[in-house]
Amino acid sequence: MTKTKTLLALALIGVCATASARGDIEMLARTCNGCHGVGGVSVGLSMPSIGGLPKEYLRNIMKQWKYDERSAITMNRIVKGLSDDEIDALAAHFAKQRWVPAPQQASAALLAKGKSAISENCEDCHGFTGSDPDVDAPRINGQWAKYMELELAKYRDPRFKMPHRKMKKAAQDMKPAEVPAAAGYFGAQDK
Ligand code: HEC
Ligand code: HEC
Repeated sequence: MTKTKTLLALALIGVCATASARGDIEMLARTCNGCHGVGGVSVGLSMPSIGGLPKEYLRNIMKQWKYDERSAITMNRIVKGLSDDEIDALAAHFAKQRWVPAPQQASAALLAKGKSAISENCEDCHGFTGSDPDVDAPRINGQWAKYMELELAKYRDPRFKMPHRKMKKAAQDMKPAEVPAAAGYFGAQDK
């Protein structure tokens, strides 16, 4: 083979390898659909939507689960079988999807209670509707309220390993009745 032809062959191998790696990630991401919905848009209720969450957040929490730095009911077992590269690729894949809020109905009383609870403790980091989070935080506008209640219970329970100290403290500072109110308030937001 001439030098040019060799280079061309090598370049083609490179292109094929990249294309197949991308295909592999599509396949792998499809195994998440059963629980998280197509494109990471969950149909509820205790299962979170993951499409469109920040890449850093997705990557961090999957690695924390893999290396036993963070508790979970289900996900810790699922990520154990993934390599770090696959976790990076899955994080990039889901971060590229669109965030589709699922605004849920809540009573006026619950919304009012939620609004006052979140304006004291949560707005600084999550934004007023949960759609303008800090870089290390997920979007929570129109996230499923039932799921958020379960997560808040984990941040509040000292038996759960949740490494984000400030979020943990914010959750623990809430009064018990503020938990469903804040979850209901953020779950009702569409933007
Ligand atoms: C058997 C159902 C199931 C499957 C399959 C599954 N998940 Fe999950 N996922 C969950 C549950 C349940 C939670 C809530 C955390 C927990 O308790 O495990 C969750 C939470 C998450 C979160 C956190 C979302 C947030 O808002 O903080 C991410 C990210 C995630 N999963 C990614 C994935 C990826 C990527 C895959 C595919 C490789 C996947 N999951 C497959 C059930 C599943
Ligand atoms: C210091 C900034 C900060 C404050 C204050 C804060 N949060 Fe968070 N919140 C975060 C970060 C960062 C995360 C992701 C943390 C992690 O990796 O565990 C998070 C995660 C969450 C989650 C889990 C979302 C998911 O998809 O899993 C919910 C629900 C939540 N916060 C609600 C609240 C509520 C309600 C308050 C007020 C009581 C609050 N947060 C206050 C930064 C904050």
